[in-house]
Amino acid sequence: MSSPSGAFHLKSFLPLDRQRAIVACCRTLIDGDVPGYVPVVRGGGRMHVRMLCLGRHWNGQTYRYEPTRSDYDHAAVPPLPAELADLAGEIAASVGMTLRADLCILNYYDAEGRMGLHQDKDESPESIAAGVPVVSVSLGDTARFLFGGLRRRDPIDAVLLKSGDAFVFGGPARLCYHGVSRIVPSTSPPELGLVGRFNLTFRQYSLPTSG
Ligand code: SIN
Ligand code: MN
Repeated sequence: MSSPSGAFHLKSFLPLDRQRAIVACCRTLIDGDVPGYVPVVRGGGRMHVRMLCLGRHWNGQTYRYEPTRSDYDHAAVPPLPAELADLAGEIAASVGMTLRADLCILNYYDAEGRMGLHQDKDESPESIAAGVPVVSVSLGDTARFLFGGLRRRDPIDAVLLKSGDAFVFGGPARLCYHGVSRIVPSTSPPELGLVGRFNLTFRQYSLPTSG
C-alpha cells in the first residue's frame, strides 16, 4: 500500500455465524423506528447509500455531528448497541490500537451504491489528532474500496472488501482519503440472505478528557 502506515485490511475477520448475527442487527436497526435514509449533502446531491447513524448523527448539510437528525426528520439518534461498540474495540485491539467507539455510521449499498473519495474529519479535533482509528466492517456484497494518502491527488490503492472483512485506519493513516467505487453484485455469501452490502464505520468522537 502506498498510503502511510496505520492502515490494516483484516481479511475474513468475522466467521459466518458472527456475520449473520451482525446482519440481523443491521436489518433491525436500518428498518427500525428511526430508519435509515438517503442523505442529501451540501450542494443538493443525494448520496448513493442508505445511512443510519448510531450514537451521534452526522449531518450531511453541516458536516457536523449532532444528537438529533436536524437535516432530515429531527428524530433523536438511536444509541450505539454495546455489542457493536465492543466488536469495534476488538478489531482495533487486534492491530494494537485502542478504540472506544461512541458512534457508528451504518450504510447500506445496493448494486448501484458508491461513495466518493473523502476524508473522515468531522470527529473531534482531539480524536483525530490522537489518531484514534476508524474501524470498518463489511457484510454482504464485495465492495471495491479505494484507499489513498493524505492528499486527494496521492496514489490510490483499490482493495476488495469482502463479507466479514474489517479495515482499520488510524495513527498516521487516520485522515487518508477513501471511498467506494463500486459494489460487485451477487457476491454476498448465500448463507446471509443479503442482497447488497452493509458497512459499519465505527469512530470515537470524544476522548475521555475532551468531554
Ligand atoms: C465510509 O467511508 O464511510 C464508508 C466506507 C465503506 O463503505 O467501506
Ligand atoms: Mn469515510
